[in-house]
Amino acid sequence: MIMSEAEGAGHRELDGLTSITAQSGAGMESCLLDGTPPPCMVVIVGASGDLTSRKIIPALYNLYCNGGLPAPFFAVGCARTDWTTEIFRERMKEALKRAGLFETDRWEGFASLLYYHPVKYDDPASFESLAVRLSELDRELGTCGNKLFYLAIPPSLYPLTATMLGRVGLSAGGSEDGNWARIVVEKPFGRDLQTAIDLDRTLHRYFEEKQIFRIDHYLAKETVQNILMFRFANAIFEPVWNRRYIESVHILAAETLGVEHRSGYYEQAGVLRDMFQNHMMQLLSLTAMDPPSVFEADRVRDEKVRVYGTMRPFETDNLWDYLVLGQYEAGMVGGEKVPAYRQEKGVNFDSLIPTFASMKVFLDSWRWQGVPFYLTSGKRLARKQTEISISFKEVPHSLFRSTLGEHITANRLILGIYPDERITLTFQTKNPGARVCLRSVTMDFQYHQNYTGPVLDAYEKVLLDCMLGDQMLFWRQDGLERCWSFLTPILEECETCSGRSSMLQPYAAGSCGPEAVKKLQNDVLS
Ligand code: BG6
Repeated sequence: MIMSEAEGAGHRELDGLTSITAQSGAGMESCLLDGTPPPCMVVIVGASGDLTSRKIIPALYNLYCNGGLPAPFFAVGCARTDWTTEIFRERMKEALKRAGLFETDRWEGFASLLYYHPVKYDDPASFESLAVRLSELDRELGTCGNKLFYLAIPPSLYPLTATMLGRVGLSAGGSEDGNWARIVVEKPFGRDLQTAIDLDRTLHRYFEEKQIFRIDHYLAKETVQNILMFRFANAIFEPVWNRRYIESVHILAAETLGVEHRSGYYEQAGVLRDMFQNHMMQLLSLTAMDPPSVFEADRVRDEKVRVYGTMRPFETDNLWDYLVLGQYEAGMVGGEKVPAYRQEKGVNFDSLIPTFASMKVFLDSWRWQGVPFYLTSGKRLARKQTEISISFKEVPHSLFRSTLGEHITANRLILGIYPDERITLTFQTKNPGARVCLRSVTMDFQYHQNYTGPVLDAYEKVLLDCMLGDQMLFWRQDGLERCWSFLTPILEECETCSGRSSMLQPYAAGSCGPEAVKKLQNDVLS
């Protein structure tokens, strides 16, 4: 592949090789950051936990190294653990070393931005003292009162913590002097419609919707963001992106990992809450939504919410015609023996929690009427693979019938999300020779082709957007509630129906999931 910016925007053939050029002559490196956030502080609540050392601090460190952090800036870790700033810095240094990111000459500068303040989540006095400390640091370092609270704590503590922050005035933002306060929460956002509404009410007691950032790390993946660019920055796909040309859509998020050390959470969640009520729904809406008139957070989210509103509710009487649930048994993954879900540490020996689900969803809209969307996700499958596969209809009339029979393999477009970060289009072409033979060939674009510069990982992107106040890649409450409205009756039926245990299909770890999926996906369209 040959890369040339001198050619201007576009795509041309060079010696039979595809050449890719950046739009409007902009160097691809310059796309890494989109402006510097205003001066601010990031307050990590739950700073002694895993999420902070594995994700948040490495992300802040990388942003620091790439010039993505504002100046002035500082981060304060808070948790119940009785650490000092020195201990916190030392622990974060070890975390960066474990992540292979540590560089001596960068560390001192980054470390000087880190502080620690212990808090007890149920103690108002401890939040008052936090408020005083933040205000002192703010005055000393000049962060203009802008605060981002990242709740890296169990979701059961969100309501209490948000309330405590609000009571001591730390949620105050959008004041006349223009400073802001924002709060970041990660899923799960409730465990059904009602608990999601309750959580939201509590958050809204002190924070407005524009101050709340609900993370879905899938949205921060480059390949996921690219779905909208691919669909709406190219004129050739939109005319065929509908029921007239598309036979079915398959959205897959397959994992090789098992439940790991998260059985406590997973036993309450299962795959439907863990993967469907968030990542799978986001992939669905990005694939199915109409183009918004402008690329702006609320316009994009309006279109997604519209998609959620078209999801046809499952008839709970025929639930199993639309849904397959599975649970992994012992097997081999990556050449290693792995235990059954029920043998994992912390899992009940007779657990009925699904680790796999495949569902057939229909969208009641003019664009998608009759097109099944198959959403499939599971743990301990044969390989890690996340992709959206669009199967087009066969040609309406085969003029090669006499030699090739009635069916010609239809076109397929695959938007690879991970680990294959690529887009492929499969089509038919003639085999060389006198006899009429066709073969399927593939046009292939690899996302990182010709790009060797730095990339932002999901947490870096999320933190950056929170500091910039851009909610494009975050859930809005109305979207969440629509998805919960769709999933809650399904969950209730799955969790209470009499044949519950017989409907949970076992599958061997390292396999492609339960056999029943084949039947679901071959069913005649309803
Ligand atoms: C998380 C789920 O949200 O996403 C995990 O809680 C899952 O169970 C993970 O493993 C998958 O994310 P990714 O980015 O590895 O596909």
